[in-house]
Amino acid sequence: MGVLSVIRHSLRPGTAVVLLALSGCAGSSLNQSGGEQPTATAVKIGLLVPLSGVYAPLGEDMRNGFQFYLDQHSGKLGGRTVEIVAADEGEGPQTGVPAAQKLVTQDQATAVVGVVNSATALGLRNFFHESKKLLLIANAGADAITGAQKSDYVWRTSFSNGKVAAALGPAVAKEADGGVYLIAADYAAGKEMIAGFRKTFEAAGGKVAGEKYTPFGKTQDFQPFLSAIRGSGAKAVYSFYAGAEAVSFVKQYRQFGLADNTPLYGTGFLTEGGVLDAQGEAAVGVKTSLHYSTELDTPRNKEFVAAFRKAYNEAPTVYAVQAYDAAAVLDKALANAPGGTGDELVKALGGVGPVDSPRGQWSFDANHDPQQTYYLREVKSSGEAVVNAVAGQLSAAQ
Ligand code: BEZ
Repeated sequence: MGVLSVIRHSLRPGTAVVLLALSGCAGSSLNQSGGEQPTATAVKIGLLVPLSGVYAPLGEDMRNGFQFYLDQHSGKLGGRTVEIVAADEGEGPQTGVPAAQKLVTQDQATAVVGVVNSATALGLRNFFHESKKLLLIANAGADAITGAQKSDYVWRTSFSNGKVAAALGPAVAKEADGGVYLIAADYAAGKEMIAGFRKTFEAAGGKVAGEKYTPFGKTQDFQPFLSAIRGSGAKAVYSFYAGAEAVSFVKQYRQFGLADNTPLYGTGFLTEGGVLDAQGEAAVGVKTSLHYSTELDTPRNKEFVAAFRKAYNEAPTVYAVQAYDAAAVLDKALANAPGGTGDELVKALGGVGPVDSPRGQWSFDANHDPQQTYYLREVKSSGEAVVNAVAGQLSAAQ
């Protein structure tokens, strides 16, 4: 049997929406004399990403990244044909938690991969810990997930909020010509990004000129907040926004005239992928910290970017890379987890060793978080395209 593709759709957030069985026949194949010979059974992987809401484009990037790895590996992980069952995380735990529970209890997924939003990740932690199933987070950076609330069953191929933000603190303290205003989306990730940045920024002598959290997923007009920034007399701004909010914030920052004299900094999600395409020239000069850029000048990344562009007609993003790497580590772990139990999988994940990623080599630390390089990026325009040029490496905060 060739490629089997069954698609179930529902527009309600939080429900399973897609079932894809990828190339090959689960459970058996024909041998040369036409008889059936047993093959490794198919493995069902739950993919939980936003298919709706402010982070839906990030979810699409993650699906593409995971699928791209499968396409490069004959639709198999650990030698087993993969069925993806996708569910909509929506905008947070209200939709994401029931969707994940259904993937495990009803759809019988061996592991769940994905999760964009920190609040969803925090809401899921106890369910996976108690049901002893693997949750492999490919974005959400909630610090506690690999800190105070670490679980044997929860691993992450992305970053933790505090660390990616902390990486930029000393550089901004050195460059800023006075107080820096801190502004972020009002939810778990925004709070942790600001806290992580503030810690290393103040330790390096930086001064805070003001701090504001904007309603998450609801703010379209940033003018009142931009007025407050101007009124504060801040000499620079540090921010956390992603997805649709990042587009609005950066464009309005430019339209309001702040970009002319008040340098804008942030975590790299502020200018990543389709967001940067939508911001265009408005984003030029924005400096960010992140563990990936399409502009990384390594043979591994160049080959990855070219192949991804060919497959999807667009450049990969950090979200795609994190999900691609999630497939890569699952590939290694499943090869050493014949029964596919959560306990087997997490033991095998502990032994995957260095991951040869487009972002550079990384490995899991003792808390199941990537130990990786953070890059200083600056948005530059060639006149034809805007990109996150790599300006150097940043030292990672521990
Ligand atoms: C988070 O909620 O952890 C998050 C969402 C988007 C980008 C980065 C982090």
